[in-house]
Parts: sequence; C-alpha cells; structure tokens
Amino acid sequence: MQARKRDFMYMSDDLSRSKASSVVAPLFRRLEYRTPAYEPLAALYRDALGLTEVEPGLLRSADAGFELAFDVRPESTRETETTVGLYHVAFLLPSRAALAATLRRVFAAVRSATERRAETPEAGGASSSAASGPAFFIEGAADHLVSEAVYLRDADGNGVELYADRDPSEWRRDAEGNIAMDTVELDMAGLLATASSTEGICAGSSIGHLHFHVPDLDTAEAFYRNNLGLKVTQRSYPGARFLAWGGYHHHLGVNTWAKDRQAPEGAAGLVRVLLSEPPPGTPSHNGLASDPAGIGWSW
Ligand SMILES: [Fe+2]
Repeated sequence: MQARKRDFMYMSDDLSRSKASSVVAPLFRRLEYRTPAYEPLAALYRDALGLTEVEPGLLRSADAGFELAFDVRPESTRETETTVGLYHVAFLLPSRAALAATLRRVFAAVRSATERRAETPEAGGASSSAASGPAFFIEGAADHLVSEAVYLRDADGNGVELYADRDPSEWRRDAEGNIAMDTVELDMAGLLATASSTEGICAGSSIGHLHFHVPDLDTAEAFYRNNLGLKVTQRSYPGARFLAWGGYHHHLGVNTWAKDRQAPEGAAGLVRVLLSEPPPGTPSHNGLASDPAGIGWSW
C-alpha cells in the first residue's frame, strides 16, 4: 500500500504539472513478431503508419526510438480466435495533431486500397492483393479520459492502438487512488480537424504501452510486479488491470477476455519485448523467457 501511496503523491505533486513523457521508465525499444508473411504486415506498419523500412522485416520509427522486427516463418499460423498473448501494441503520438495526422494517413491508405479494388476487374483480379483491399482494418475508436485512441488490426490479427495522451494535469484519480479511465465516444471529427499533414508516426512517437491477454489477473499482477517492477494504477475495469512504472496511467494492460485459450506452438504474433534498460527495482536478471502472456522480455 505504501508504494501505491507514493505513486499517488508522485502523481499529485509532480505529474500533474508535467508531461507524461517526463516519467522515468524504461522505453519499449524493440518488438519481435513471428509471422507467416511480411508484406501484408508492411501494408500497415510501413505504408499506412509510415515507419521506415531499414530492410525487409525491420521497421524503425522516424527518430529511431523504437523498431519492429518480423521473423518470417511460413509455417506459423494466424489464429482466428482470441488467445493468450498480445491484445495490442499502442503507439503513442506526441500530440493530438500528430495522432490526427497519422489517422489521416491510415484513412488515405484504406481509401487507396479500396479504389484499387474497385478498379480491378472482378474476373481474374479477385485473388490479387490489389483486389483484396487493405491488409488491415480499423476496429474502433474510443476516448479513455486520459487519452484518445483508435484501434486497428493487422493482417495476422495483431492489435494496434494509435493514441495521444491528454495532459496529465487532466487525469483524475478516484477515492481509491485509481487513475480514472473509461471507454466513451471519441470526437473523431474534432480530432481529425487538428491534422495539418498526413505524416504518419512522427519523430517523438513511442510505444506507449502494451496490452496482453492473460489467463488470470492476480497471477499476472504478481508476476509483473515481482519481475518487472510494475505497479497497479487501475484495478476497477471489468476483466482488466493496468500497471505502470512511475506515475503513468499504464505501460502494461492485462485482461482475461481470452480466458485461458492458448495459441498453438509457433503461432504468429508478438514473441519478445526489448526494453531500453532494466526495469526499476527488478532483480539483476537480464530478462524473462516467458511471461503470463507467453511473451519474452529482455533489456
Ligand atoms: Fe491500450
């Protein structure tokens, strides 16, 4: 309880007057995925989101703050049912206008693919990639009080969130110290009106948080607290729990919405997370082979 009180004090005394980016916490530097094919994923991460292709299978952000690496294993399977593992990776844009600019680029990519499909004669074109539309889809949008977010899903079924934080001075805590988060309607028109470009994920962006499906919340909370030094910031959301380093609203979300359905060995998806430095307060080990979501961590 002492730790939670300290977090609350930190939030009250420091965070409310500063930006979330000033919180001292490890950065998510590299995410490694297993996939049966790279190009369908590149249609989202490279073409629609604007990450730079260093080489096929390796994409990097504009200021090299993070990278995504795709290990192509043609035999790996795409699961159609939600399973324990990644729920979504959340890319944090540095401002509301930057989020809007990225969304405009995504919408333009969807429109372009849709137009190509419309122009492709049905006979002989139905099976071509141009005729099958974009290799990703927009899944939803929400205002979470602390942030505004749009959700997508890539060709392998991996979730992607694009979001921008509200200023931490606007974050609220309930009587128990939980940071208030909810899911309410996003003002999409108001958001898009702030865009001045279609730049995509720009310099200053980061991987703000990860969200995993786990079999059990209490087990997961204990694991991430003991092994990664993460502390709970929100435990009242149905079926989910949120944890963070420092006073951020969350660096990690976990939920039990996949129950305990396990993906088969070798399935496509996120397999490893690399941090910029050891998590605060953790033992001296160099990483974790597998966490409650079946994902490895190193630093
Ligand atoms: Fe999220």
